[in-house]
Amino acid sequence: MAQPEGNEKVLTDYEKYIRTEELLALQKPPEACADPDELLFQVMHQVMELWMKTMFHETERVAGLLGQDELGQAAHHLRRTAKIEKLLADQLAIMETMAPADYHKVRLQSLGRGSGQQSPGFNRMLTIGEPVWSAFEKARERAGVDLVTLFAKPRVHWDLWLVVQGMMEVDEGFQAWRFHHYEMVKRIIGLEVKSLKDVPASQLRYGIDEAFFPELWKQVPVLTRSTRPEY
Ligand code: HEM
Repeated sequence: MAQPEGNEKVLTDYEKYIRTEELLALQKPPEACADPDELLFQVMHQVMELWMKTMFHETERVAGLLGQDELGQAAHHLRRTAKIEKLLADQLAIMETMAPADYHKVRLQSLGRGSGQQSPGFNRMLTIGEPVWSAFEKARERAGVDLVTLFAKPRVHWDLWLVVQGMMEVDEGFQAWRFHHYEMVKRIIGLEVKSLKDVPASQLRYGIDEAFFPELWKQVPVLTRSTRPEY
């Protein structure tokens, strides 16, 4: 077996598998940073891209599992996706520890015209609604139950109901991320700043109400109305 020459570093199996050398070279060196907090800023975004990639993969699995009527497994992967969303929303609290004045140094010197709206992971996640919904609708039709009945009698098609719960958790998790991000933007740069598309940051609030699966949310008041909720 070839031996390393001179000072050549021998990588451990861990380093080779995780590819730590490449991974840890993806951040700017301290001397190139506009501010010492820039490492945090860059890592926060890189981590988000990795988790968005993972979530997209999970939701592709969900669509495939629904196609095979593997409802329990589909619900499991929806739950996993929602947990990643929660982690992403919670981690924004770390970003909020950055002083606005330090953020502006990074924005002006390093970020340039870069914007979170250009995030490939986020934009890919915005496309998951249609494939998951259409796979769910086909599974629901095969089960021979309509949405109104599914909400009124969840125990009759319990596994399908757990899938519904998972889909609503994914919606809630994504909206929670968008809400936290909105609050963070308010705190660090304010809501007047204009995006690349000349839209003020205050518009981010409309994203908070967007759902991947709006038809499910419509069923909640339908059921409530059917119980004659007048007090
Ligand atoms: C210093 C903290 C941050 C500030 C001040 C900030 C600011 C903004 C602003 C003003 C926008 C609106 C579009 C634009 O003007 O570019 C935006 C969008 C976005 N940002 Fe941030 N951001 C921050 C941190 C983050 C972090 C840590 C992430 C990811 C982990 C992120 C991901 C995104 C995404 C995905 C969008 C698009 C959101 C949507 O369209 O609903 N941002 N950000």
